Amino acid sequence: MRTTLLDLRKMKAAGRRIPMLTAYDYAAARIADRAGVPLLLVGDSLGMVMQGHETTLPVSLDDMVRHAAAVVRGSEKALVIADLPFLTYADTASAVAAARRLMQEAQVQAVKLEGGRHVVETVRHLVEHGVPVMAHLGFTPQSQHTLGLRVQAKQAECAKRLIEDALALEAAGAFALVLELVPAELAAEVTKRLRIPTIGIGAGAGCDGQVQVWHDLLGLFETSPRHAKRYAEIGAAMEAAIRAYAEDVDEGLFPTAAQSSKMDADELAKALA
Ligand code: KIV
Repeated sequence: MRTTLLDLRKMKAAGRRIPMLTAYDYAAARIADRAGVPLLLVGDSLGMVMQGHETTLPVSLDDMVRHAAAVVRGSEKALVIADLPFLTYADTASAVAAARRLMQEAQVQAVKLEGGRHVVETVRHLVEHGVPVMAHLGFTPQSQHTLGLRVQAKQAECAKRLIEDALALEAAGAFALVLELVPAELAAEVTKRLRIPTIGIGAGAGCDGQVQVWHDLLGLFETSPRHAKRYAEIGAAMEAAIRAYAEDVDEGLFPTAAQSSKMDADELAKALA
């Protein structure tokens, strides 16, 4: 049984923190699901960490559907949320079409979209038609060229606007709100004012939950963003393992009898006769 929207409300009411992690493939989803992470986000950050782009903008809906379907197949318990990619929800009809593909073809349980008051009507429409929507405020990566990659809403006017947007998204039916690169004090205040859970990334400890990108958390690349904590050095571990494998092949140490299968000597003789 997967995590439900009701479970999330209950977690917030009970003061239980909510961990969320990105996942982009079957193997990652299996590992995170086994580790008990209740929310898996198939983020369009896959454009950067899986495809090597500089931003999330080149990610297509086809990309999202393919990766999201793999994550759904790899998980049993987590609620799987997929990002609606750049410009796939610029109008309500496009948003419905994109959400339809993610929910019917990939079978995710919810979608996430970025933005404040200008997406409120889209959120309302999707929710009224049975699409659970996670909202996303603060630094919204699809607007990177407009916003710049920096902490948002540090000035009073922008902070006020963010609080108003958060309340409007909640009123429109969003089931949770991601707050990215927002001052900790502001994120904590938004968290207090909302009934739905807030999930922070670079937004301090006062949010109801936290989200991290798989590669940052596990140390797959040489560096991670400042807001990330590296819980392992998997990139270095992979590199060492692959180097050892290549050396073993080079030196004739792999494969050994243990990794090989034998053929009956008579059968071999007959085959060679
Ligand atoms: O795409 C993504 O991974 C995200 C998270 C950083 C929240 O939107």
